[in-house]
Amino acid sequence: MTFKKRILCIGAGYVGGPTMAVIADKCPDVRVELVDINAERIAAWNSDDLPIYEPGLDEVVKRNRGKNLFFTTETDKGITESDIIFVSVNTPTKTFGQGAGLAADLQYWEKTARQILRASTSDKIVVEKSTLPVRTAEAMDRILNSNGSGPHFEVLSNPEFLAEGTAIEDLLDPDRVLIGGMNTDTGQKALDSLEDVYAAWVPRDRIIRTNVWSSELAKLVANAFLAQRVSSINAVSALCERTSADVNEVAHAIGRDSRIGSKFLKSSVGFGGSCFKKDILNLVYICRQHGLPEVADYWEQVVRMNEYQQDRFVGRMISEMFNTVAGKRIAVFGFAFKADTGDTRESPAIRVCRHLLEERAEVCITDPKALKNARYDLGQDTPGVTYEPDPYKAAEGAHAVAIMTEWSDFKSLDYKRIHDTMAKPAFIFDGRNILDHDKLFDLGFNVYPIGKAARTHH
Ligand code: NAD
Ligand code: UGA
Repeated sequence: MTFKKRILCIGAGYVGGPTMAVIADKCPDVRVELVDINAERIAAWNSDDLPIYEPGLDEVVKRNRGKNLFFTTETDKGITESDIIFVSVNTPTKTFGQGAGLAADLQYWEKTARQILRASTSDKIVVEKSTLPVRTAEAMDRILNSNGSGPHFEVLSNPEFLAEGTAIEDLLDPDRVLIGGMNTDTGQKALDSLEDVYAAWVPRDRIIRTNVWSSELAKLVANAFLAQRVSSINAVSALCERTSADVNEVAHAIGRDSRIGSKFLKSSVGFGGSCFKKDILNLVYICRQHGLPEVADYWEQVVRMNEYQQDRFVGRMISEMFNTVAGKRIAVFGFAFKADTGDTRESPAIRVCRHLLEERAEVCITDPKALKNARYDLGQDTPGVTYEPDPYKAAEGAHAVAIMTEWSDFKSLDYKRIHDTMAKPAFIFDGRNILDHDKLFDLGFNVYPIGKAARTHH
């Protein structure tokens, strides 16, 4: 079959994989290929056991794979043959040199740009899908178009707003698609071409066109605003615990104001995920670079509050369990950074477990999808840690259960059975406020929700 367009995506991760699978599904006349330097990941994309867990992803991939959706490691060939190249490589926080701990590490992105330049024999549209510092497109444009007489490259920004766990839903029915381009004839033509891809299933009035810098910056700002709401409600949760106000009631009451809105007001043990912290720190770094220290400090506080919330959670566990958890078994329910994903990047469970291990607790972790990643994060043979798929077994003999992820499986467990097998007094620390706290109290648990008065038997 001849295809109308050929799309390549460099980077077959949490964003590249689902996004391209949905494009292939919705645009049967477009050939979509994903490449990755990680051959194991590509092999997994070609197998029955996909490298990431995401509800609905299996069906979309399996429906299109081999028809107009392909996963390979042949990056140069893919570049040569494509019209539009999405770059969806990782952009983690830099761990070395200038900007370490704050700035985005752009080495993967820059290698990709140079590879595109090397392997291209015709004009291309290059789309920044990764989250990048504002004005990265300028550098990309300079690298790509450094070769005066060669092919022309038009750089667009098209940040992704999907959330893990709902990626397929988000991609199929996005609030908006944001595309930014240069204010030139070729820039606008490239925007038209990319807009046409999305218009196959997204109403055109939901496709926002901006200049390229606004698009790059809007992505960082969107994540900063979302994380800021979580940190704000978590700050309030600390005050609720001191005053017997109930954070859920406060959130409900303020969320009914349509100017505030009800979403992203769930108090928790803290936000995790690969992007919120990284993107805010990147924003902080950019503000400092531009001589705006007050603005930088303002946003940095969102991250500091998130760390405080996690440390506060462990501190409360220790103080309520008679100021020691040494030698005590703690059943950690959930390790993923949110429900419906196996992803554990920056999961609050990591910091909480490390802290508990420093206090010499015996931590037993259970999670329906994230045990493999948990082993990777904490180590397979780390003293004091065990991994147990069955939550009932994880809780056997435990002094406390700590809910770290809001998996619906945890809501429907038989907590009487769990209580019966635990050491007494039995404690439950609900870091996600998902359980029925009155019922748990009646079963004999000492219950510590987030942002609500504790229910204790002593
Ligand atoms: P990821 O680590 O899951 O995937 C990135 C992939 O790129 C990896 O498989 C890696 O091997 C590959 N890669 C790196 N360098 C390469 C190269 N030179 N050639 C080919 N492949 C290469 O990361 P992700 O979660 O998909 O995130 C990608 C980008 O999207 C990041 O900038 C992130 O901030 C952004 N983002 C992520 C999410 C999310 O939910 N995870 C949502 C929106 C935006
Ligand atoms: C987030 C954004 O929601 C996406 O729009 C964005 O594309 C993505 O980051 C990204 O750039 O990577 P994600 O991190 O996958 O998506 O998941 P969220 O649903 O945003 O949750 C992030 C964290 O905040 C989770 O740990 C979640 O449990 C926590 N959270 C969220 C709360 O504690 N309370 C809330 O009310 C909402």
